[in-house]
Amino acid sequence: MASHQLLLFQLLLLLSSASHARDTISPGQPLRGNDTLVSPGAGSYVLGFFTPPGSNNTYVGLWYAKVPVRTVVWVANRADPVPGPVERNARATLSVSADCTLSVADANSTVVWSAPPAPGAGAGRCTARLLDSGNLVVSDASGHVAWQGFDHPTDTLIPGMRVGMDFGTGANMTLTAWTSPSDPSPGPVVAVMDTTGDPEVFIWNGAEKVWRSGPWDGLQFTGVPDTATYMGFNFSFVNSAKEVSYSFQVANSSIVSRLTLNSTGAAGGLLQRWTWVWAAGAWNMYWYAPKDQCDAVNQCGPNGVCDPNSLPVCECLRGFAPRSPEAWALRDNRGGCARATPLDCGNGTDGFALMAHAKVPDTTAAVVDYRAGLAECAQRCQRNCSCTAYANANLSGAPGHRGCVMWGGALEDLRVFPNFGQDLYVRLAAADLDAAPSKSEKKAHVIIAVAVSICALAAIIALVGFFWWRRKRTRARQSGAPSKWSGVLHSRTLTSEGTSHGADLDLPIYDLETIAEATQGFSADNKLGEGGYGPVYKGTLEDGQEIAVKTLSQASTQGPDEFKNEVMLIAKLQHRNLVRLIGCCICGQEKILIYEYMANKSLDFFLFGTHLTSVSIKVPCPPKNRY
Ligand SMILES: *[C@@H]1O[C@H](CO)[C@@H](O)[C@H](O)[C@H]1NC(C)=O
Ligand SMILES: *[C@@H]1O[C@H](CO)[C@@H](O)[C@H](O)[C@H]1NC(C)=O
Ligand SMILES: *[C@@H]1O[C@H](CO)[C@@H](O)[C@H](O)[C@H]1NC(C)=O
Ligand SMILES: *[C@@H]1O[C@H](CO)[C@@H](O)[C@H](O)[C@H]1NC(C)=O
Ligand SMILES: *[C@@H]1O[C@H](CO)[C@@H](O)[C@H](O)[C@H]1NC(C)=O
Ligand SMILES: *[C@@H]1O[C@H](CO)[C@@H](O)[C@H](O)[C@H]1NC(C)=O
Ligand SMILES: *[C@@H]1O[C@H](CO)[C@@H](O)[C@H](O)[C@H]1NC(C)=O
Ligand SMILES: *[C@@H]1O[C@H](CO)[C@@H](O)[C@H](O)[C@H]1NC(C)=O
Ligand SMILES: *[C@@H]1O[C@H](CO)[C@@H](O)[C@H](O)[C@H]1NC(C)=O
Ligand SMILES: *[C@@H]1O[C@H](CO)[C@@H](O)[C@H](O)[C@H]1NC(C)=O
Repeated sequence: MASHQLLLFQLLLLLSSASHARDTISPGQPLRGNDTLVSPGAGSYVLGFFTPPGSNNTYVGLWYAKVPVRTVVWVANRADPVPGPVERNARATLSVSADCTLSVADANSTVVWSAPPAPGAGAGRCTARLLDSGNLVVSDASGHVAWQGFDHPTDTLIPGMRVGMDFGTGANMTLTAWTSPSDPSPGPVVAVMDTTGDPEVFIWNGAEKVWRSGPWDGLQFTGVPDTATYMGFNFSFVNSAKEVSYSFQVANSSIVSRLTLNSTGAAGGLLQRWTWVWAAGAWNMYWYAPKDQCDAVNQCGPNGVCDPNSLPVCECLRGFAPRSPEAWALRDNRGGCARATPLDCGNGTDGFALMAHAKVPDTTAAVVDYRAGLAECAQRCQRNCSCTAYANANLSGAPGHRGCVMWGGALEDLRVFPNFGQDLYVRLAAADLDAAPSKSEKKAHVIIAVAVSICALAAIIALVGFFWWRRKRTRARQSGAPSKWSGVLHSRTLTSEGTSHGADLDLPIYDLETIAEATQGFSADNKLGEGGYGPVYKGTLEDGQEIAVKTLSQASTQGPDEFKNEVMLIAKLQHRNLVRLIGCCICGQEKILIYEYMANKSLDFFLFGTHLTSVSIKVPCPPKNRY
């Protein structure tokens, strides 16, 4: 009986404490060492005092209310603890003063840590409130934010928290790993958004750069390929004059995901994404970096290229040779590679070789212009003798406005991916442009050849299936039975076939790389002119065929099917006296028509010919993963 009463009493106590769970502290009403704040709404987060296992100190931290394994995601006074374990610190306090200073004090009211308000805030009657998101916000009576926890991440990014720079408030949001699992104080391992060139995230271990994400190319970090479409959460990247930041969001509060910076790992710094698996009652590691040998910074030295799927992993860029062949033979690649032929910028004979699927070089010292396009970028790089490579800076921009990033000097920390990364155009002397492509480029060709064979096989199967279906339908018609396949055909003709470009077009579809290569990276020298739809370039395909490449500028809401239909119509309407349409290229927003080039044809045809009105294609690119 007594035990029942006790249980009931405990239950009542629990209920009363739950109903009294508060989310705000105000002057004169501090948070005590034996109490907690609970975030309102879904009540996802708890803020309170804790002692890490193995420690003798007390800290103010934030952890999940519903995850049964206490997981601290933020610490206020990580370097300035209250001495003694939390059990003996019931009278320690977290308080906010009337002038908006947040502070932690021990039982004797000795302040051990404090956060001063931002200049301008502090108009009296300040309060500190734990928001739904887990953000502890100090604001004054007029609502000005004087200080917020999300501006000072610890080692963990939770939804809504940012890594990066807020130029408006001056907040530099970085992740800094704990010194050890029992010591939350800032260790030497830091993840920082570098905003000097094209923004990218670096992990530093002290003065040593351990990993870089590759720059944000408008869609993803070019060095982070392996996070296939996120399920249950998404990310956002802001790159503006006011802010450069990365953050993520979850679809609903049952999804618990966090990104942590760990000081363990082979490289001495490890970014990990964890998701809580309710069924298993455990954290599951969803993603991590660095991952492979080529994620190590500058594995192959200046102008070297790291390819984890190749043995040995290092090779030189096309047109370059090992600086020290002896060291290179012993797989000491630190010396990197040097040009086989010196550049000849003065005579203007240098050209650019395309390196596809690249994690582009370190952009810390790169020059970036988000408004330029690739053709303009090529021109600028060609003119500037210290420019050694260029690439697009913003793949989410409209064609012709995808930005320009240019590198000078040696190209550092290059790697390739089998099916990810960006196109990089590397400056070479004319003699080296004709040199044999490097091993990885050959491999890319093999991959393309294999892909083409698979597509061809699929087309044959589809063709055979079609004839089989037609025969069957004819028989069905003859027998008067309704065709059970008609629905299938209907939907097949209506859907766009996604990425299986050309499956139902008898017009070759070229990939962007082929066209870029044919036109020397849409170089200005190859430009024939500019029509109402966009610029037209002359090019030469690998088999020597001369082509005119008409890039269609943006706009319109026409879908992929309409575009395909129009292209098919043009293809069918082709007349021997007209210039032949020999292919097209659709990848994301890029839409390009490829004509046979005829030297004596009026330029007007290329520029204004065909009845094709403005088109916009949204056929997905060959799968590009996002992070
Ligand atoms: C915390 O301890 C103080 C005394 O030190 C006590 O008055 C208060 O009720 C305790 N609060 C909780 C939630 O246990
Ligand atoms: C914590 O402090 C107590 C008393 O000062 C000491 O006996 C104990 O060894 C300490 N524990 C750790 C983990 O430092
Ligand atoms: C608080 O002050 C008393 C008396 O000065 C002292 O004995 C005690 O150690 C102090 N406690 C802390 C936590 O500093
Ligand atoms: C942000 O902080 C990091 C690490 O403390 C530092 O290296 C970096 O320069 C800072 N960024 C800016 C823009 O101040
Ligand atoms: C991410 O998801 C959240 C919640 O589902 C949504 O509000 C937000 O718009 C999404 N952001 C992006 C960039 O898709
Ligand atoms: C939240 O997401 C989970 C998993 O995707 C789903 O089962 C659940 O219905 C969602 N809850 C709400 C309120 O949307
Ligand atoms: C660091 O990584 C190790 C190994 O994956 C893991 O056990 C540990 O929990 C991680 N620490 C943090 C703070 O995430
Ligand atoms: C231009 O080319 C000529 C002949 O190849 C060479 O002699 C000369 O040095 C080059 N000029 C420059 C500025 O590189
Ligand atoms: C990239 O292009 C998109 C679409 O035009 C634009 O909204 C965005 O601001 C651009 N990014 C930068 C950094 O200019
Ligand atoms: C030429 O390129 C280098 C390296 O990209 C850059 O630092 C420099 O500012 C450029 N000069 C001009 C005039 O654009």
